[in-house]
Amino acid sequence: MIRSKITGCGSYSPSRIMKNADFDGIVETSDEWIVQRTGIRQRHIAADGETTADLAEKAAIAAMQDAGVSAKDLDLIILATSTPDHTFPATAVEVQHRLGMHHGAAFDSQAVCSGFVFALTTADQYIRTGFAKRILVIGAETFSRILDWTDRTTCVLFGDGAGAVIVEATTGDGTSNDRGILTCHLRSDGRHRDKLYVDGGPSSTQTVGHLRMEGREVFRHAVGMITDVIEAAYEATGLGSEDLDWFVPHQANKRIIDGSAKKLGIDPEKVVITVDRHGNTSAASIPLALDAAYKDGRIKPNDLVLLEAMGGGFTWGSVLLRW
Ligand code: UT7
Repeated sequence: MIRSKITGCGSYSPSRIMKNADFDGIVETSDEWIVQRTGIRQRHIAADGETTADLAEKAAIAAMQDAGVSAKDLDLIILATSTPDHTFPATAVEVQHRLGMHHGAAFDSQAVCSGFVFALTTADQYIRTGFAKRILVIGAETFSRILDWTDRTTCVLFGDGAGAVIVEATTGDGTSNDRGILTCHLRSDGRHRDKLYVDGGPSSTQTVGHLRMEGREVFRHAVGMITDVIEAAYEATGLGSEDLDWFVPHQANKRIIDGSAKKLGIDPEKVVITVDRHGNTSAASIPLALDAAYKDGRIKPNDLVLLEAMGGGFTWGSVLLRW
């Protein structure tokens, strides 16, 4: 059977680092509060004029170099973002142009913090149906541009960045020993659409708007929703927490990550954590974490890797793959 295998990975973080102490004089907060409640110590912030497409392009080039492919080898680009450069055209099309790719297709996918899991699942469907053979999947965000910098309950949590992977068609024998994506599970529930949202948009206010979140409410649902899609992945494959080599969760809050790992019986040594360095970079957080653990040698060929995310909508999902 056709499997979608990750053959390259890359990421990019803007050069400016904002540490917790740098909120001094911006909002009333403390390094102690932010570290204790979230695990975040710093985040990267895009420079003036540096856009989501700029970050995405750099991550894409790194992933293509890692896979040893060029733009002519790609069939499709799927870019997950909630902070596009423009209302339209899609940021993916801007990146496609900059990569010198004038064939195939490119489009954006929007599922906020679950964006990368949704985009990777979409890529997997296109590959398994034979529609595409090689897809560039990017998660890229400039959340600093939609934060209300007077609201301490949200502005300390998010950061900017981008990560990308190359996904290629390969053949497997249909068992959980295959390399590539083994199973994907997506969910959304619009009853929760007002718990984490942006209070602007082209059709409603004709403004970009700012991020608004009932943090405690999101927190309350997070572990249960994450557990739901991970158990679905285990059920579909017959695999379990004991089989995992690496758990690469969406990086929103270390307490949510620890709580989910504990509930699922995942060894803390197998959990990849980058939220301390990046904050919550929404759709970029999983590929940033994946790239960190791959480049430092933790993730190796044949390792079983579990991805999960939960975010605005609410949306949530999991991807279980063998590297
Ligand atoms: O990517 C997916 C979407 N996002 C998430 O997954 C985030 C989910 N939520 C969270 O991570 C947590 O709910 C937060 C980190 C946002 C907040 O942590 P919490 O433990 O739920 O705190 P809280 O909202 O219950 O606030 C506790 C206190 C409040 O003061 P009072 O009412 O107890 O006096 C807040 O006003 O902490 C106060 N507070 C702060 N204090 C210092 C809120 N933000 C700050 C801050 N600095 N930055």
